[in-house]
Formats: sequence, structure tokens, C-alpha cells
Amino acid sequence: MDLVYGEGVGELFQVQCHLYKHIFSYIDSMSLKCAIQLGIPDIIHNHGQPITLPELVSKLHIHPKKSNCVHRLMRLLVHSGFFTKTKVHENQEDDEEVYTLTPSSRLIIKDKVTSLSPFVQAMLDPVLVSPWQFLGDWFQGSELTPFEKAHGMGMWDYCNQSPEYNNIFNEAMASDSRLMSLVVKDYKSIFDGLGSLVDVGGGTGTVAKIISEEFPHMICTVFDLPHVVANLTDSQNLKYVGGDMFQSIPSADAVMFKWILHDWSDEECVNILKRCKEAITSKGKEGKVIIIDVVINQEKDEHDVTKTKLLFDALMMVLLTGKERNKKEWEKLFLEAGFSHYKIVSSFGMKSLIEVYP
Ligand SMILES: C[S@@+](CC[C@H](N)C(=O)[O-])C[C@H]1O[C@@H](n2cnc3c(N)ncnc32)[C@H](O)[C@@H]1O
Repeated sequence: MDLVYGEGVGELFQVQCHLYKHIFSYIDSMSLKCAIQLGIPDIIHNHGQPITLPELVSKLHIHPKKSNCVHRLMRLLVHSGFFTKTKVHENQEDDEEVYTLTPSSRLIIKDKVTSLSPFVQAMLDPVLVSPWQFLGDWFQGSELTPFEKAHGMGMWDYCNQSPEYNNIFNEAMASDSRLMSLVVKDYKSIFDGLGSLVDVGGGTGTVAKIISEEFPHMICTVFDLPHVVANLTDSQNLKYVGGDMFQSIPSADAVMFKWILHDWSDEECVNILKRCKEAITSKGKEGKVIIIDVVINQEKDEHDVTKTKLLFDALMMVLLTGKERNKKEWEKLFLEAGFSHYKIVSSFGMKSLIEVYP
């Protein structure tokens, strides 16, 4: 038998294990989705102290015949770092064990302001997962995206015609954006002195709301597709405008893009940025562009951060025409759109804050 690697049986089976781990890594995502559906992080959180398996099972709304499977779901999630399992009494005969939350599962407790559970649910919804079945066919065919191959239309059109998924998606984006309050507080100087700001593709306005509350004298505009901002109510210094950023962008001292430009190809980004330059220079002023997005930096980033960025890059390829970019690729966009200089102000997790000037 030809063992391909020739190094021996031990290594071959280790390689097989590596292969199988990757074949089944979708099970990590689906188990996480299941834990959220069953409310496991919330149950442990509301219990107020570490929870035993029987206590957890008694609080789950599951069929009695499935009770004996809960420890298997939990074992996998403990292994993935979402819960910890420890003995109640160390060094004693009694080997009762309890589960606790970890920092990762604290981020998916549903009723917390910082909950990312809407993000997990939207990203693992069949609407976004099914296009992955078409990735190979997409490489061989002429469709713009695997999403289009799966659903017969682009992602923003899909959101427009499915109010149900539109809501799920907008909630997901809002949950990610709620974490931005920390960034706005830490980088206040970025916004100091601005009289007006437009958040382009600002969704239902989570980031703009945070900024408008922090800077009551600033006029903030959330600019997004009409189906996203329809029925949202303006408040004192926050207003919603529906439109298409490829046509024109409302003028302001600053234009912000959070998680927008990575949705689009280089050519499309240059187009958007040109509209943006018109918007910040139209009053005769020299405004600025604020970008919150991914910058790939494989040399400096930790392995896990790079992995997350590369997963997002593939996600952009499957859902949209976008991609994640390194510093050089960002610079090329800015210069082609007619901007003269930029600064990567800071990086937090997988996102960076970039300022761009005309
Ligand atoms: C990835 S989401 C980001 C939402 C928000 N910035 C956030 O991070 O929470 C992209 C947003 O771009 C909006 N969008 C897509 N095409 C657009 C267009 N042509 N003009 C304006 N907004 C658009 C979508 O409706 C969506 O809200």
C-alpha cells in the first residue's frame, strides 16, 4: 500500500485526524447555534452559580428522551472553549461536576447589551450557509457570487424581498455595532470638532446613535438602502436617509464606513470612495473619511486573528463581490479614488480604525 507520505503509520493517521477535523469543523458552528437556540448560556448565567448537568437538563425545554445527549453537546462546547467543566469538590470521592461560562459564552448571553447571539444566528442561518454548497460550481461558472447561484439574486436584493431575513441580518449587524461604543469612547478625538457625520451603510443606526449621544452637537445621518431605513424614526441630532451610495452620498464633515468597503470589489470601492470625496468636499471644506474594517496583517497578527480575517475574506467571496485587504491594498484604493493620505489609527480584534483625507 502506498502511504503517500512514506513517514510511517503514526504520521499517516495523525494526518487523517487533521483532515477529519477540518471536514467536520462545521459541527463546531452548528453546536454553537444549537446552544444559543436552547438558551444554554442564558440558563447558566441566570443560575447565578456553576450549574450541574441535572440542573441544566431540568431547565432545558427538550424532549425527555434527549436528556442523556446534553452532556455530549456540552463536552464538545467545553472543548471549543465556550464553557468550562470543573469538579465541585476537588480531591474527594464525589465527582460531581459543574459548568460555568467563559468569556466567549458571556458574549452570547441574549439579554446583554453586548450580546452577539443575533450575529451567530444570522451568520448560521440557512440563507447564508447554503451558498457554500455552490462555491466550486461558482468557480467554474459565470455567476457573480455563490449567494446569487444559490438564491437567484444578490444578497441586498434578497434582504429587500425577505423582510424576515432583512430583520435577522440587521439585528446581527446592530449586535456587532453595539460593541463600537467602546471604540467611540476610546477614540473620542477622531470625532472631536466634527459638525456632521454620515454613516454610509449604517444599517439601523446603532453606531450613529452611539456617536450622536456622545456628541450631542453633531448632526448624524444614517444612510442605507431604503428597505433598511424605512420606518425608522429620526431623533434630535440623528436622521435616517434612504438611498444608494453608488449614486450619491449626503454631504458632511465626515463620512463613516463600518464593515462596508469589504463587501465590495476594488472597482466598486473606488466608485464609492469617489462619491464619498464629493460628499466631504462639497461645502468647500476638507472633511475626512472614517473606516472601520479589516486590515490583513499576517506578519503581526496572532494566528487566530489572521484565521478569523481569512474566514471573513472567504465569506465575502461567497456572499458578495468583496474581500478583506492588507494595508497596501487599502492604500491603492484611497489613492485611486483621489485621496492623498491615510492613517491606521488603531486595531481592535479583527477590525481597524482608519482615517482617510482628501
Ligand atoms: C455589512 S452591513 C454593515 C452595516 C453597518 N455598517 C454595521 O456595521 O453594523 C452592510 C450595509 O450596507 C448596506 N448597503 C448595501 N448596498 C448599499 C448601497 N448601494 N447604498 C447604501 N447602503 C448599502 C446594507 O443594506 C447593509 O446595511
